[in-house]
Amino acid sequence: MPHYFDREPLAPSRPRQVSLRLPDVVAQLESDAGVFGHGAVDRGTRFLLRRAPMPPGSGDILDLGSGYGPIAVALALRAPGARVWAVDVNRRALELSARNAAAAGVTNMVAIAPEEVPPELRFAAIYSNPPVRIGLAKLHPLLTGWLDRLIADAQAHLVVHRHLGSDSLARWLYGEGFPVERVGSHDGYRVLRVQPRQAVKDDR
Ligand SMILES: C[S@@+](CC[C@H](N)C(=O)[O-])C[C@H]1O[C@@H](n2cnc3c(N)ncnc32)[C@H](O)[C@@H]1O
Repeated sequence: MPHYFDREPLAPSRPRQVSLRLPDVVAQLESDAGVFGHGAVDRGTRFLLRRAPMPPGSGDILDLGSGYGPIAVALALRAPGARVWAVDVNRRALELSARNAAAAGVTNMVAIAPEEVPPELRFAAIYSNPPVRIGLAKLHPLLTGWLDRLIADAQAHLVVHRHLGSDSLARWLYGEGFPVERVGSHDGYRVLRVQPRQAVKDDR
């Protein structure tokens, strides 16, 4: 069965324009078949972009699972002094992210496969509508791997629908040592703020 997280989508290309309209950002973006959010900006994505705080003005910022790029492009426009990394496994998604950034006049964003991100890079912020549908066995190490690359005092903001397990994901992250707080809730979507993992106290 085809998935939006396939590396090489088999679905024939069917480009569709979508409008990203936020109080401070307006962009025309191209979406396509075989890529998450074909034909419309996802409601969770829109909520994340409205509810999460503005990105830091400098440093490296990650959009984990960029799709066609609505989050990454918005971040890059909001923080022209930062460098935004739009990371995805889906090649068509990466091509769209790069094209959409160029069309929006963005020059501070790179669209890149996860394994191409320099391993020493640490992030001043992470924003993500994460790929929950890959299953928890893959999602958990994916999230901890990238969250452990936050610099001290940085924050990640994740949007997850409660029907896709936002509340149990929050509990799981907390259990792994990441301070987690729900900072927004709308229509079943939760925005979770996640801070860098705290060292576990050894009470022995
Ligand atoms: C829920 S979609 C969000 C897409 C886009 N950010 C948006 O808001 O429309 C999650 C994205 O994560 C990508 N993805 C799946 N597995 C991944 C992985 N291991 N590393 C990075 N991205 C991944 C999928 O291909 C998909 O584009």
